Amino acid sequence: MRWNLGLAYVAALLGCASESLAADTSVVRDGETGFTFSEFRAAYQIGLYITFRVAIPAPAPPNYDLVFQIIAPSAVGWTGLAWGASMVNNPLTIGWASGNTPVASVRRTSIRTQPQIYDGAKLQLLKTGTKVNGTHWQITAKCSGCSSFATTGSNTKSLNPAGSNRLAFAYSKNRPNSASSAAVLSVHEVYNYWDHDFSTAGNIDFDQLVQRNS
Ligand code: HEM
Repeated sequence: MRWNLGLAYVAALLGCASESLAADTSVVRDGETGFTFSEFRAAYQIGLYITFRVAIPAPAPPNYDLVFQIIAPSAVGWTGLAWGASMVNNPLTIGWASGNTPVASVRRTSIRTQPQIYDGAKLQLLKTGTKVNGTHWQITAKCSGCSSFATTGSNTKSLNPAGSNRLAFAYSKNRPNSASSAAVLSVHEVYNYWDHDFSTAGNIDFDQLVQRNS
């Protein structure tokens, strides 16, 4: 079964039926890594959430590197973040736990079949904030090539560091069966979209924080 949990539906369930165009994110300072993140809690089943966090440099240069964090309950097989809010023609950063090893992979596809490894964006896993424990797995990674990327033809999409950007996620209950970033992914059960506020995700000490957590 595949669901698309409408944000309005989820908002209504949470008792905050908002029709405004405001972003769907809130700000958190992560005590472990020291990054200030803007975070979205994505419902993948009723009452169960995957947290997606974004931190960017302040000020943000063109084609800025960003740090993202995925915090997923153990039952999440794999989950992925689509930086262009679509399955196709944008970088997809995907994570899962292989036993006690957190794994991250960047994929891309132009059709809605299993996305293949994409080397147009590079990930650096940050040691602090990347872990598996008894209840969750978590990835903290720097991405070069996630904030600005080719889409179709000669078009490029650049995510606005001073405003909201539409992002998407997908979730599967099926865990890939290896720690290889090229592992086979089975199709998702759920996907959804949200507006992620990057204007509250700025870190003046971005480079130092990347270094300190590496
Ligand atoms: C084996 C891997 C995958 C297969 C076979 C697959 C297949 C599909 C199919 C058939 C749809 C259309 C669904 C519909 O119309 O009901 C879809 C939509 C979608 N998929 Fe995947 N998918 C895969 C992996 C991924 C991954 C890794 C992501 C990463 C975030 C992703 C993100 C999305 C999103 C956001 C949509 C919504 C439609 C869109 O915006 O393009 N998918 N997928």
